[in-house]
Amino acid sequence: MRLQLKYSLRTTTSDEMGREITLVSQGLDAMQRLGVNVEISRDAHVDVGAVIWNGTCIREGASVSAGTSIGRNAYLGPGVKIGKNCKIQNGALIYEPTTIGDGVFIGPSAIFTNDQYPRAILPDGTPKTEADWRKVGVTVNEGASVGAGAICVAPLILGRWCMIAAGSVVTNDVPPFALVAGVPARQIGWVGKYGAKLTETAEGFFVCPESGESYELTQEGLKPIHE
Ligand SMILES: CC(C)(COP(=O)(O)OP(=O)(O)OC[C@H]1O[C@@H](n2cnc3c(N)ncnc32)[C@H](O)[C@@H]1OP(=O)(O)O)[C@@H](O)C(=O)NCCC(=O)NCCS
Repeated sequence: MRLQLKYSLRTTTSDEMGREITLVSQGLDAMQRLGVNVEISRDAHVDVGAVIWNGTCIREGASVSAGTSIGRNAYLGPGVKIGKNCKIQNGALIYEPTTIGDGVFIGPSAIFTNDQYPRAILPDGTPKTEADWRKVGVTVNEGASVGAGAICVAPLILGRWCMIAAGSVVTNDVPPFALVAGVPARQIGWVGKYGAKLTETAEGFFVCPESGESYELTQEGLKPIHE
């Protein structure tokens, strides 16, 4: 069920721990749990079952799907799409036109840029307007994780279930299941769905030490053998 937020329908109450929360409803059966001081455009969409904490700003046309939690002081630019069951941590800055798939983890203070060659003004000194620049975005696929403070420099595609180390500056596409780190980010290994580094058991064959799941490196990239 999709809920279009209406400021006029907000009421403030407290949760089971006594913290003040804001409930937003459209109709009597659609209730959404939000922090106080959340700034959500009336044209944003937040599914029932998402949790948005204090200080977060969600701009017009952005959408947040069910089961997703967004921490404090995060920013979603106009039209940014966030999938189901994501965890977006405090202070993440996600500029449009980034798209985040289902089950994605975004660490605290991670940044997704949208202007490859930024300038505030035109050569004649006048401020640039929306028409004066071409926005580029990051596509983050299912299950991917972006570590704390990482900067994803658009345009980029982060493959499904990849992992970006804390503090990385990502300037190239990241293959599915790849573990990348550093400035600029380079691949330092592979990670499985469980989130552990994979161990190579034979050339092109890997196993997850935590789950025992097997992976194979094929021409299309790394894949779980049983999926
Ligand atoms: C990348 C990561 C998964 C690697 O963990 P690990 O396998 O235990 O790594 P190790 O400590 O064994 O380090 C392996 C190598 O990678 C380097 N490395 C580890 N983390 C790194 C990082 N964030 N950036 C750059 N290099 C890193 C280590 O220095 C080491 O290099 P060396 O072999 O030359 O000494 C982990 O360091 C990381 O960044 N996790 C994300 C944490 C995070 O942001 N969480 C968000 C919620 S708070």
